[in-house]
Amino acid sequence: MSIHISAKPGEIAKNVLLPGDPLRAKYIADNFLQNVKLVSSIRNIYFFTGTYKNIALTVGASGMGCPSIGIYSYELFTEYEAECIIRIGTCGAYTKKLELFDLINVDSACSESTYAECAFDYKKDIFNHQGNAFNIINDTAKELNREVKCGAIHSGDVFYRQAKGKPAIVKKYKCLAAEMEAFALFANAKFLKKTAATLLTVSDIIPTHEKISADEREKALLPMITLALESVVKN
Ligand code: HPA
Repeated sequence: MSIHISAKPGEIAKNVLLPGDPLRAKYIADNFLQNVKLVSSIRNIYFFTGTYKNIALTVGASGMGCPSIGIYSYELFTEYEAECIIRIGTCGAYTKKLELFDLINVDSACSESTYAECAFDYKKDIFNHQGNAFNIINDTAKELNREVKCGAIHSGDVFYRQAKGKPAIVKKYKCLAAEMEAFALFANAKFLKKTAATLLTVSDIIPTHEKISADEREKALLPMITLALESVVKN
């Protein structure tokens, strides 16, 4: 048991899928995993461990933002046996070249966040994915004939931003999209020499305000969920 996760030793698998939303974690456990056990529910942040195609897998929630995913991924890596965390989430596209439902396999995540400096004295504003999961996801996507775009994304601390125009860091790194977590996950994995990837579905287009509707969301995320599951089996 760690401070924020009540799983017993051995109850977290080597591979972990981490959506933001606890109910998304439950949906994946209910619909895709076998032999499922709820191993933690502190703060209603559920973690389930089961099997997918006979491979042990944990699916749990990261919550929103760098502080939250920073806590959960650090505890999974340091207090349990997690070796590889794949975040699966949604993002807002900064460019009209992306379309709703597009998939992004995140190459690097930049942020104005002080997370990496405060945690590890890293004086960088961008971190790459860590380890081989990124390549496995790309290879698996090819096998499944599913297109994924790769590039830099922006892990912002602010969802409701008043200023017009793209943030400076987005221009600096030519970010494809905005989300709020990958930066802290990648910084933790780098420091701890673990594996981390982030797979995103474009749920909104920032310049045009187009959005996937609430009704469409569950179905919209299926290609990302199945790609992540099929990738984990190969890891
Ligand atoms: N900004 C940040 N996070 C997001 C967005 C966004 O526009 N869309 C989905 N997650």
